[in-house]
Amino acid sequence: MQWTLFLVVAASVGARTILRFSCSQLVVERLDPLVNPGMIPSPHLHQIVGGNGFNATMDPNRADLADVVTCTSCTPAEDFSNYWTAVLFFRARNGTYKRLHTKGNPLGYADATGGQTVYYLGPSASNSVSRATAFRPGFRMTIGNPAYNKASQLARYRQLMYTCLQAGTTRGADTFDFPTKFCKAGIMVTVRFPTCWDGKNLDSPDHQSHVAYPVNGTTESGAPCPASHPVVIPQVFYETLWDTAPFNDKELWPEDEKKQPFVWSFGDQTGYGNHGDYVFGWKGDALQRAMDADCNSDLYGNYLNCPTLKSQSIIKSNRCVKEVTAREELDGWLKSLPGGLTP
Ligand SMILES: *[C@@H]1O[C@H](CO)[C@@H](O)[C@H](O)[C@H]1NC(C)=O
Ligand SMILES: *[C@@H]1O[C@H](CO)[C@@H](O)[C@H](O)[C@H]1NC(C)=O
Ligand SMILES: *[C@@H]1O[C@H](CO)[C@@H](O)[C@H](O)[C@H]1NC(C)=O
Repeated sequence: MQWTLFLVVAASVGARTILRFSCSQLVVERLDPLVNPGMIPSPHLHQIVGGNGFNATMDPNRADLADVVTCTSCTPAEDFSNYWTAVLFFRARNGTYKRLHTKGNPLGYADATGGQTVYYLGPSASNSVSRATAFRPGFRMTIGNPAYNKASQLARYRQLMYTCLQAGTTRGADTFDFPTKFCKAGIMVTVRFPTCWDGKNLDSPDHQSHVAYPVNGTTESGAPCPASHPVVIPQVFYETLWDTAPFNDKELWPEDEKKQPFVWSFGDQTGYGNHGDYVFGWKGDALQRAMDADCNSDLYGNYLNCPTLKSQSIIKSNRCVKEVTAREELDGWLKSLPGGLTP
């Protein structure tokens, strides 16, 4: 998929709102306020970015994060949302595990202390709906399913993928399962959420059924939302870059060349369990205003062309970190994945 090329073209005609920005690493720990609220620690490890209001509960009825947050690791200074994914591990021949670290996106955000690149995309010019409706306080959702281990299951989600980067700026050749060769510049994991909302529920028991995809095609290609989920919402999209360089060594990889060594923190060695979580937390109507202002991002510099948004430098975003609540040993060669999990 030539995503980079598409973005450049789209940005140049100014047809479509593209917010793209950097969120540095806020914390890495076993908490999951969406799927396991109140549980300390939660079953598997996550890497989290966004506002420092992230904690084990995040009660949706006390949803105004702007009241409790004192900093954000994202460059839009009014974005107190939280974004998170699972964590990648390397499995050694002797069966021990070593944690991978995220790194800043070389396309503009190399100075970030890891974390994610986050996008909010509006509908294309060919869509009959010209504006995306921003989320409301308390809105949250997940995408993907950690229990999935087959390509046929993953088809339900469409756009949860891996890019094996040979250089920081190359794209293309995305796969739904883990790359099976060295990725010199790292593995980029992409997580794209659905673009249609039921217009009523801020969440749902499975954290997914209040949102949906268009029946045919995508909102980006102009396809309409289904009648059950008629409201076009911004497409939330994560790119997380995992630094695999320390493990690009034939002596370390599995002797069986058909196997690859990476495993998600929830024990998935296929890659089909890729998933992401989102808790909306923009201050006031800052997100809606940015979507309405047709903001666009300069892909190659650290520049968000959005007069309605207050932004902060990556250096300042890097300083927003949260103390670990669920303390445990995460570095070194571990006998099992955190939480005692094994594939
Ligand atoms: C999470 O933060 C909210 C708001 O500050 C607070 O009321 C709640 O007690 C916190 N929960 C935990 C488990 O720290
Ligand atoms: C397991 O393998 C890793 C990577 O080769 C090595 O660094 C580590 O010392 C080994 N641990 C044990 C207990 O042999
Ligand atoms: C989806 O596409 C199929 C095949 O082109 C068509 O028959 C169907 O009516 C479409 N459904 C919707 C909701 O657009």
